[in-house]
Amino acid sequence: MFEALHAQPVDQILALMQAFQNDLRPHKIDLGVGVYRNAEGLTPVMRAVKAAEHRIWQSQGTKSYVGMVGAADYLDAMAELVLGPAVPRESVAAAATPGGTGALRQGFEMIRMANPAARVFVSDPTWPNHLAMLSYLGIETVPYRYFDTASRGVDVEGMLADLAKARPGDVVLLHGCCHNPTGADLTASQWNAAIATLRETGATPMIDLAYQGFGDGLEADAQATRKMAAALPECLVAASCSKNFGIYRERTGVLMAIAADPAARGLNQETLAFLNRLNYSFPPDHGARIVTLILGDATLRADWAAELEQVRLSMLALRSQLATTLRDMSGSDRFGFLASHRGMFSRLGASAEQVATLRRDHAVYMVGDSRMNIAGLNVRNVPVLARAILDTGI
Ligand code: LMR
Repeated sequence: MFEALHAQPVDQILALMQAFQNDLRPHKIDLGVGVYRNAEGLTPVMRAVKAAEHRIWQSQGTKSYVGMVGAADYLDAMAELVLGPAVPRESVAAAATPGGTGALRQGFEMIRMANPAARVFVSDPTWPNHLAMLSYLGIETVPYRYFDTASRGVDVEGMLADLAKARPGDVVLLHGCCHNPTGADLTASQWNAAIATLRETGATPMIDLAYQGFGDGLEADAQATRKMAAALPECLVAASCSKNFGIYRERTGVLMAIAADPAARGLNQETLAFLNRLNYSFPPDHGARIVTLILGDATLRADWAAELEQVRLSMLALRSQLATTLRDMSGSDRFGFLASHRGMFSRLGASAEQVATLRRDHAVYMVGDSRMNIAGLNVRNVPVLARAILDTGI
């Protein structure tokens, strides 16, 4: 039977992780997978997470199942963190999921159940796994213009023109903040324009919020999602705790379906429970418990928010150091976009050959589309990267 299997397309981000590990050059620089690393190159457990785990260890008396959609207090805490007061809690159906990817997968399945002919509009470019999952599920994707290769900002006019082609029953997938892979985000007024366009089309937004707290701050990064959820009758939100709580391997995420009215919420909630049962039954709880404890305890929450803010500021500092170093070395402002991008990633705008040269000649690893993980840098290797970029003719 198994001889009928055939090789699946390689995930470029995972392949890059492997290639980096196999490289024995001591000066190698990993700008690949989206994992935060501090100045020592480590991904530490956050202080509040350690404290919460300690409390769980002391007080947890059972590992029995929690609930088909996870724990109610976790879902309430995440609805508050992501949506704030933007929509009434009674209209939000929610389910805990294994990470943000689990939330996306469940959301895509829900879309397909609701409308087998749904098309999902995706930014060009988008996170490769969005496309892989949608293609696996047989859902048609429609790319919308997003990244302007000349300015390295957002092609807002192109985006709005393409989104205007969506129809009721279609879904528009948006990155709530810190666009992956480009780092180019919409401004507040551009978000308003996108909301107005979506309202005219009748299409449903689905927001992938994987980096809340990594861009302009915890509250600021949620604003677009909140506005979208409040302004449109229906909305899906897939949120991840991997990055902002640094609990990658605990697989902690949430899918929220915001209904037009509280009465429609019941069916959405049942659908989310049904999908959880089918795909993995009870969702993981350990990470969700950590998050719930932190968000519900004023001291832990303040400490977590402060450490997250440090992480955010350190990435911003690396961005401006890299932009300034490149300006000084090249005598041109053409890399200024690095300082205005937000989140972990920036698309450098190098060709595939230049990316390969960076890897071969300089041991610099970035994704083939020239996405760089800014958190892979530190104050010492920024000048090394800048030199390599210029020597490669970028
Ligand atoms: C990334 O884009 O590098 C992260 O979201 C990690 C992943 O799973 O791809």
